[in-house]
Amino acid sequence: MCGIVGYVGSQQAAPILLDGLSKLEYRGYDSAGLAVRNGTEETEVIKAKGRLKVLFEKTNGGAAVPGTCGIGHTRWATHGEPSENNAHPHMSDDGNVVAVHNGIIENYQELKNKLLRKGYTFYSETDTEVAVKLIDYYYKKYEGTPVDAINHSLVRIRGSYALAVMFKDYPEEIYVARKDSPMILGVGDGESFIASDVPAILKYTRNVYYIGNLEMAKVSKEEITFYNLDGEEIQKEMKTIEWDAEAAEKAGYEHFMMKEIHEQPRAVKDTLNSVLKDGKFDLTDIGLAEEDIRRTSQIYIVACGSAYHVGVVAQYVIEDLVKIPVRVELASEFRYRKPILDPNGLVIIISQSGETADSLAALRETKAQGIRTLGIVNVVGSSIAREADKVFYTLAGPEISVATTKAYSTQLMASYILAIEFAKVKNTITEEQYENYIAELQAIPEKIEKIIEDKERIQWFAAKQANAKDAFFVGRGIDYAICMEGSLKMKEISYVHSEAYAAGELKHGTISLIEDGTLVIGVLTQPELYEKTISNMVECKSRGAYLMGLTTYGNYSIEDTADFVVYIPKTDEHFEASLAVIPLQLMGYYVSVAKGLDVDKPRNLAKSVTVE
Ligand code: F6R
Repeated sequence: MCGIVGYVGSQQAAPILLDGLSKLEYRGYDSAGLAVRNGTEETEVIKAKGRLKVLFEKTNGGAAVPGTCGIGHTRWATHGEPSENNAHPHMSDDGNVVAVHNGIIENYQELKNKLLRKGYTFYSETDTEVAVKLIDYYYKKYEGTPVDAINHSLVRIRGSYALAVMFKDYPEEIYVARKDSPMILGVGDGESFIASDVPAILKYTRNVYYIGNLEMAKVSKEEITFYNLDGEEIQKEMKTIEWDAEAAEKAGYEHFMMKEIHEQPRAVKDTLNSVLKDGKFDLTDIGLAEEDIRRTSQIYIVACGSAYHVGVVAQYVIEDLVKIPVRVELASEFRYRKPILDPNGLVIIISQSGETADSLAALRETKAQGIRTLGIVNVVGSSIAREADKVFYTLAGPEISVATTKAYSTQLMASYILAIEFAKVKNTITEEQYENYIAELQAIPEKIEKIIEDKERIQWFAAKQANAKDAFFVGRGIDYAICMEGSLKMKEISYVHSEAYAAGELKHGTISLIEDGTLVIGVLTQPELYEKTISNMVECKSRGAYLMGLTTYGNYSIEDTADFVVYIPKTDEHFEASLAVIPLQLMGYYVSVAKGLDVDKPRNLAKSVTVE
């Protein structure tokens, strides 16, 4: 959801800004822009509609905009259509203030009306232009420092923001502020960096500061000074980023998504091994004591999109193993539902980015009620990771493709680990079962690898389905949860209308959509539900559906019904989602490739949804 970069130092800023933006393009990609200042000269702003490469060409790779201090932005439109006019950076009328912004200013209309009354005019439809002019207004009104002007503005602004601002009177300085939108500040040797996400600056430095909510900073080449909302200086601890830059490159794969699909065995194994000590789980790093587990009488899992789908799988697994009730909720609903939570409940927020606005708001709503929270998060130092009482870090590494694959798989692994450990502590499984479950989890990475090795078969089938208009994914129990993720993968990157249906629900309405050749994908990994789902597939077939079956080796009778079958290895039925999702990720990927679509950056989407 929009990417921000900034640079101040002795090198030319524009090429560094463009390079940083190229690592953030996954956050938004309908337009981009740069503002660069050459010493005390006027700031030059260049913007372009479309992908970053248009801006790259327009600025001759940055060479056309000389200067050693600048800010850049890649946009995912919220207010105002994608256009050069609406692209960032935005500027006050006299060029006094120039800024880029990520987030949404909810009361922008009210602020705009105020500024209109003060004589300001507006050239774009964006909320960011309003923020820029508000800062300009307070800067002039109080004749104070940039920090004062930003402070006055932030008190007025409702919503979320990560702002990077340059002032005409302060060459070689960039001012930043943050509330609920991600931003990190990097420290180099005589140079400083600003970015929405680590990959943008990793090539230049590993030393970063995480700027907190409602904090500001003055960034110059020699130092970064932090301020609270009262304008008082505050101290921050510098952190070191551990993962390497290569993790955020394509490494020879055509798309990040394919690279990330291949990284799943490693990511899942790392996540498992991070809590496995001498053949047993040790959750002390997460901070989950046995007492915490014992007193948990209800679990709520709250998340969005694919992370929510992980929650649906986890619900089946935890209820079956731990024998306590589990509710799974969409964060965007939970936050406004005024949920009544069990005081002994535990709310688990699942999020790859750790910045999803609705998930973060749900976390805060929970904490406000005094209920314990646990984040399952991939991005270290992200807002959810910092604000949750306890954090289980998934070790997927940076996920760049907008459609999640490896983060989803590691979230599943984290959920299984919690389920097994809770079951052990609550004595709902035997010691022998505990050991067997762990052994099953240890075998999963290799099984995922085997499925990926067989990807050409799915490629062949996907190419045949490239013209499908609709796809229906059907299954029961955990298979239904897998269908949800398979269906999302298909629609988000292949633009094929697809739906996930609990197989038993088909005849309550949806079956009327099945006609000759409609693609129906049945997922059948749960032994006791196999026959039931087969019956539902037969019902579809007799209405003309073209059937694909996804089941475990040994269930060969499916070939009597399905037109095409994908077999996956067996594991304990609780963990089958980890294997079944792989062919479905590959299906979505290959249909997208066959249609010539932009796999890693599907239209209208952004990787990190920091607005509600
Ligand atoms: C789909 C996808 C999204 C995310 C969702 C939550 O492929 O990636 O549905 O799962 O936007 O994002 P996080 O996990 O960052 O909170």
